[in-house]
Amino acid sequence: MMENPFSYSNYVTGASFCNRLAEQKDLIYFAKNSENIFLYSHRRMGKTSLLHQVMQRLKKTRPKINCVYIDLYGTLDENDFIDAVLTGVTQIESRIEKIFKQMNGLKLTGSIDPTTNLPTLSASIKPKEKPEYLEKALYLLASYSNKQKLLVVFDEFQEVAGYAEAGFEKRLRSVIQRHHNISYFFSGSQKHILIDMFDSAKRAFFKMARSYPLEKIDIRHYVNWAKSLFKQKQVDISERTIIDIVEYCEYQPMYIQQFLFDLWRLPAIDSDALDNIKKTILASHKNQFMVLWDLLTQNQKKALRLLTETGGEGIYAADQLQKVGFNSGSVLHTALLSLEDKEIIFKNKTFKFQDAMFKKWVQGLSRAV
Ligand SMILES: Nc1ncnc2c1ncn2[C@@H]1O[C@H](COP(=O)(O)OP(=O)(O)OP(=O)(O)O)[C@@H](O)[C@H]1O
Ligand SMILES: [Mg+2]
Repeated sequence: MMENPFSYSNYVTGASFCNRLAEQKDLIYFAKNSENIFLYSHRRMGKTSLLHQVMQRLKKTRPKINCVYIDLYGTLDENDFIDAVLTGVTQIESRIEKIFKQMNGLKLTGSIDPTTNLPTLSASIKPKEKPEYLEKALYLLASYSNKQKLLVVFDEFQEVAGYAEAGFEKRLRSVIQRHHNISYFFSGSQKHILIDMFDSAKRAFFKMARSYPLEKIDIRHYVNWAKSLFKQKQVDISERTIIDIVEYCEYQPMYIQQFLFDLWRLPAIDSDALDNIKKTILASHKNQFMVLWDLLTQNQKKALRLLTETGGEGIYAADQLQKVGFNSGSVLHTALLSLEDKEIIFKNKTFKFQDAMFKKWVQGLSRAV
């Protein structure tokens, strides 16, 4: 039996990775030329997958470019950031003693992450020592770029916006600016926070990195990619079917993968099978959607219902407001802003759901009442 080539629970590379050839080419070029990039998109558009795909290719280029991938998700402060950088260094430095030595004076505890089997470090740093150790950790990182070029990826970089330490971004920038043989990729979602960090003149990252928004994958690419994978199984999947799936999933790669994963398991492709998969996908996310829904305020729920009913057009019209029970437009406005902040909706002329399946689920709710 052939292994299912589709995957939706983790980042994807290789055969499971669809196209993005132009983006790969751009990012490889930036890395080779030590340019700093700020890669952003809505959630789950494929940033992490693209970054890993690019790193895999860079490791094979000659002269080799070393890559350090630093995941900042869940980091709360400068302490955590330094830990993450040091743990990142273990990807290119197998002699942990060397890290301990370089960071002398710092209380470091090394352990093995049971889930990944990779070494992780953790430091305990007092507030007044932080600037010094941030500089040391970044200096240590940079020491690996003396002989060969280095790519440093900070994924989930939006977390930095929540750190309370004064001047953290400024200090980070002042060190990073001095690194000429390193390309830094900052990647993250929460568009508004990141844009604020990089584009507002007040913030230290102003003009530090080139903005690189990640767009959706062209439908042509999805068609060719899915067709060629199904061909390995001697299944001829029609172009129409693939287009329908991509449109049903609203170009969201994770759902497209899940759809194709389920389709791969079936002996035959017919419209009943496709309908069944639609139901299964929605059902598989039901718990997660319920948790999310329960965390919303009454007004936020009303605002979402209004969006499903109107498609986002003319939502401030008096009869629309009344229909879902809003007394005033300003109440709706406040609800929409907090939904945007939670990355549930985004604005592109009108307000839209970020998550295509969540939208379908909310639609299903209002049909039920
Ligand atoms: N180029 C691609 N080809 C096929 N599937 C992809 C591609 N990129 C992403 N995916 C699918 O989308 C899912 C989410 O991708 P990924 O985790 O890379 O997105 P992300 O933008 O980093 O998400 P987050 O905002 O949550 O960090 C993956 O699990 C995979 O199923
Ligand atoms: Mg990611």
